[in-house]
Amino acid sequence: PQTLPPVLLAQKYFQIFPDERDPLWQNPCHDKRHKDIWSKEKTCDRLPKFLVIGPQKTGTTALHSFLALHPAITSSFPSPVTFEEVQFFSGPNYQRGIDWYMDFFPIPSNVSTDFLFEKSANYFDTEVAPKRAAALLPRAKIISILINPADRAYSWYQHQRAHQDPVALNYTFYEVISAGPSSPAALLSLHRRCLQPGAYSSHLERWLHHYQPSQLLIVDGVPQFYLITFELKYVLKMDFIGLDTLDYYWRRNYKGFWCQKLEAGRTRCLGKSKGRKYPEMSLESRAFLSEYYREQNVELLRMLKRLGQPLPIWLRDELHNAS
Ligand code: A3P
Repeated sequence: PQTLPPVLLAQKYFQIFPDERDPLWQNPCHDKRHKDIWSKEKTCDRLPKFLVIGPQKTGTTALHSFLALHPAITSSFPSPVTFEEVQFFSGPNYQRGIDWYMDFFPIPSNVSTDFLFEKSANYFDTEVAPKRAAALLPRAKIISILINPADRAYSWYQHQRAHQDPVALNYTFYEVISAGPSSPAALLSLHRRCLQPGAYSSHLERWLHHYQPSQLLIVDGVPQFYLITFELKYVLKMDFIGLDTLDYYWRRNYKGFWCQKLEAGRTRCLGKSKGRKYPEMSLESRAFLSEYYREQNVELLRMLKRLGQPLPIWLRDELHNAS
């Protein structure tokens, strides 16, 4: 029978199946037909076993750098563009394909004991990320850190100001969070970007649509006012990533953040862009955001109970104060 030349055939195919124009990458080794045509020089082992998905400003850099210190855990190489995050599942990089992604990881020396991971904090609230991640990494563990969404929004706003975002510099935090339909477009856009990631339960539901509850770990970012930011012990005690308790040595710096203890009494903290100095959030803004996030927080509480996951302290406090 007659068939069209390749390019025309492809065009015809995508006319009939427009949904397939967007690729959805799967692990070539999970399907025999794919594996058979996958280059013999390539391996499927250069893929992460877990992802730290964010959201932004919850302490994801701390978690990333502390995890990376563990001898059995290997982080992705830093992206030359973002200097850190790969941001594969969340944006245009996805179109570059899995070879591009795999190149961010070393070839593990022992596939069963080496834990590759990456952290891209915008995965958490990107619509397509869970579906794409689950297609390529169906067995991965997913780690998310949650702090009070009000604090997250405030930290994010301060982050934008520190990066000289003209809109953030122009408006107070309260103006940003309370913007409405009649506000200028630029302010509204900042408003959305500031608040939308804090709708924790909606975002987590999307992840749970693609991953089993047992694959998801929610870490409380702030057990006590940023003091015990990093809950690695808790992560590992749950045997979540199958490793023994770590033998790190930590010390808190003057701000109360955990830093790595080095020799001769020295410490290594995160850079000065983490743990910034800024005035406390106004009570007015806090009250506004408590109300704003109430429903989402109630949903989160229900979800965590349903999943049998421990409740973050901030969540209990928040809902206790609100009731
Ligand atoms: P602030 O700078 O607003 O205080 P992310 O890395 O996800 O962008 O999160 C940044 C936030 O991590 C910081 O926000 C800070 O509060 C928090 N953080 C948690 N542990 C930290 C640590 N050990 N050192 C510095 N900042 C830490």
